[in-house]
Amino acid sequence: MRTLRHEGPLIIGGGLAGLSAALEAAPAPVLVATPATLLEACASAWAQGGMAAALAEDDTSGLHAVDTVAAGAGLVELERARALTDAARETIDWLDRLGAPFDREADGHYHLSREAAHSRARVARVGGDGAGRAILSALVTAVRASPHVVLWEDARLTGLVRDADGRVRGAILTRGERRVRVIAPAVILATGGIGGLYGRTTTPAALQGAGMALAWQVGAEILDPEFVQFHPTAIRLTTAGPDSDLVSPLPLATEALRGEGARLVDREGRFLLGDGDSADLAPRDQVARAVHAAEMDGRGACLDATQAIGAAFPTAFPAVYAACMRMGLDPRHQPIPVVAAAHYHMGGIAADADGRTTVEGLYAVGECAATGVHGANRLASNSLLEAAAFGRRAGRMARTETLPGPSPLIEITGTGLPETELTRLRELMDRHVGVVRDAAGLTTALAELAAIEARHPDALPVVAATLVVRAALAREESRGGHYRADYPDTLAEARHSRVVRDADEVPQ
Ligand code: SIN
Repeated sequence: MRTLRHEGPLIIGGGLAGLSAALEAAPAPVLVATPATLLEACASAWAQGGMAAALAEDDTSGLHAVDTVAAGAGLVELERARALTDAARETIDWLDRLGAPFDREADGHYHLSREAAHSRARVARVGGDGAGRAILSALVTAVRASPHVVLWEDARLTGLVRDADGRVRGAILTRGERRVRVIAPAVILATGGIGGLYGRTTTPAALQGAGMALAWQVGAEILDPEFVQFHPTAIRLTTAGPDSDLVSPLPLATEALRGEGARLVDREGRFLLGDGDSADLAPRDQVARAVHAAEMDGRGACLDATQAIGAAFPTAFPAVYAACMRMGLDPRHQPIPVVAAAHYHMGGIAADADGRTTVEGLYAVGECAATGVHGANRLASNSLLEAAAFGRRAGRMARTETLPGPSPLIEITGTGLPETELTRLRELMDRHVGVVRDAAGLTTALAELAAIEARHPDALPVVAATLVVRAALAREESRGGHYRADYPDTLAEARHSRVVRDADEVPQ
């Protein structure tokens, strides 16, 4: 295997968090490794809603923090939430300067939408429902023009390199058939979430938790891995096949539709969450459970935008409109059938606001990180904000790192899963580790994961899924995105799950 010594941060992942870190790490030389061409296979580019920021006259970053804490069901760290919401205006201005074309009012102010559990309209959007792709495109242009950044757009993360003191010293990247060992003063994981562990997901299927699995294997703390956010309105799109399976991933119908007045109804047109004007803008976990229940009892769930949006649909929400029309459904005149689907991982690699994990030399940013700002239930449109704001901070922090002197190196490597096994894993995650969980299902899931692991001992998706399931089984309560049918109550004391690999299991 070839070894390359890189003098600056190595960033794994080319979504919003990774590229924000890359730009801010200047003038240090940065190597960004992504498995596909930038803008492909990362969840940021699929984000529809926008970026949350207290920009309206009746809003403050303090109120934004209060809403963030309330949504997180007892597990948001207030100081971190403040750091995030205080950075929002400056982050939006930075992106604006880079050319992100945020929607504006006639008077030049940002156009702001309302989303669930926000007490104010504070979601800055781009092109109606194209925020993720438009913001990321601006960063891609900036990164491609930056002489300090080298891009490898064909490199998968397959291992981490650490030294005898436990410090991370680099990563193993696989490019086609070749493996390269890159030694660097800091490794920033920006590897995204775990939606690809589910069949029902709104995220790219390639996101299977490799970063979290490897971070755990080198001894980093994993925080609250059981907290997965299910989006209530993934479009119920089926294959044309005989048994009409749901396609995977599923296109999203952004929550901003409900912000504009679209309503959740069953097939008979009855409101799913009651007829109050803001009933459908309840916290996302509650809405997801209502949609899930309607599916389970055969009522079905639909998002009806015919009255509230109607003829304006194609211009107001072009991406959702195109997804509906591709399946032969005209949302101007017909309700959109929806299901709940895995959307965002609140848990992940424990990291501070500068991306530092519990392992020296290893950083985590964006969805793969758990920085304490999302708790048990992320507030809508805080994820793009976190990716950019904390990604930038991590880039600035990581550029100061230097490599210590020579030391024996240890490699921790892993693989993916063959397609048939991945399908099996996704089915069991959908069935047993979804919107509603219980001990029997989670125990079955663990046993099935162990069987897959016996056949594929190095498979990173199995490691990641096992972290989620074990913590879900251990959390004997319902809180935010984690709902246990056998423990429906929320305990008085909110506790984090902190998962660290036993010291004697970490390769020495
Ligand atoms: C949405 O547009 O509904 C998703 C936004 C988010 O997940 O923050």
